[in-house]
Amino acid sequence: MKVLVTGVTGQLGHDCVEELQRRGIECRGVSSKDFSLTDAAKAREVVTAYAPDVVMHCAAWTAVDKAESERETCEEVNAGGTRIMAEICRDLGAKMIYISTDYVFPGTGTEPWQTDSPKAPCNAYGASKLHGEQAVQELLDQYFIVRISWVFGINGKNFIRTMLRLSENHDKLTVVDDQVGSPTYTRDLAVLLADMAASDKYGVYHATNEGYCSWAEFAAEIFRQAGKATVVEPVPSTAYPTPAVRPKNSRMSKAGLDAAGFHRLPAWQDAVGRYLQELSNEG
Ligand SMILES: NC(=O)c1ccc[n+]([C@@H]2O[C@H](COP(=O)([O-])OP(=O)(O)OC[C@H]3O[C@@H](n4cnc5c(N)ncnc54)[C@H](OP(=O)(O)O)[C@@H]3O)[C@@H](O)[C@H]2O)c1
Repeated sequence: MKVLVTGVTGQLGHDCVEELQRRGIECRGVSSKDFSLTDAAKAREVVTAYAPDVVMHCAAWTAVDKAESERETCEEVNAGGTRIMAEICRDLGAKMIYISTDYVFPGTGTEPWQTDSPKAPCNAYGASKLHGEQAVQELLDQYFIVRISWVFGINGKNFIRTMLRLSENHDKLTVVDDQVGSPTYTRDLAVLLADMAASDKYGVYHATNEGYCSWAEFAAEIFRQAGKATVVEPVPSTAYPTPAVRPKNSRMSKAGLDAAGFHRLPAWQDAVGRYLQELSNEG
């Protein structure tokens, strides 16, 4: 099996390549230095030359707030770029794993979203990722769509790094407590994605670390495990107005993983502990 991973300079793509290498699977990671997702001809040239059996499409425009003012560019990368990758996969007969997001759902209520729950993104980024899903489903049979949320990994900026940095000079931090979801550690997700790549259990899945929390609860757990004295003061989303509306309910059901015989990811608190260890190994 030969796997091409897009977004290798990002959090998830980096860990996917590491996981595949750990398993001795031939793989190549690419970023915008190899081709832009908006350049169909160059993308086709590079991917066809490598001739992968599987494409793990982790690359995306991930600047959620900036997407509100640069809607067209975000759409071009996340929807147009994904369509280009899906067309190439179709023509090569390759499987495609497309990474999507909880932001495809409206974020209302408190019940976990099922994979087939109605979609209604509340911001431009979510809409662009949903259009990417639709392109994959329109063009391919052999695909995995994997929705994730609240991502953290060693190769990039994320909420845990931000909280640790702020704790250096704050005794108290106000953190939003009316948005509930699940953190996703890219090292854990990469294990599942490598299992999927080797399987033919195609379909739409939700995959995050187990358990739900608010951002305030997430922050408090980070400080507890990191031995930081910083106190978390929970506040509503209205305390932090952002250009892009954030969903309040990002709970996603992982029943699809059980039904297909895939392992769920470990609990999010366990993932935080292992990530803190990874950060400290990094120095
Ligand atoms: N971060 C989250 O909280 C979150 C939540 C839900 C879903 N997701 C999804 O999870 C996936 C991985 O996210 P992540 O946090 O690992 O992303 P990330 O760290 O922001 O990395 C994004 C990657 O995409 C590449 N990229 C961006 N624009 C590109 C373009 N026009 N052409 C080619 N490559 C381009 C970047 O390459 P360069 O460095 O070369 O620009 C980089 O490697 C994405 O599909 C994202 O939508 C993320």
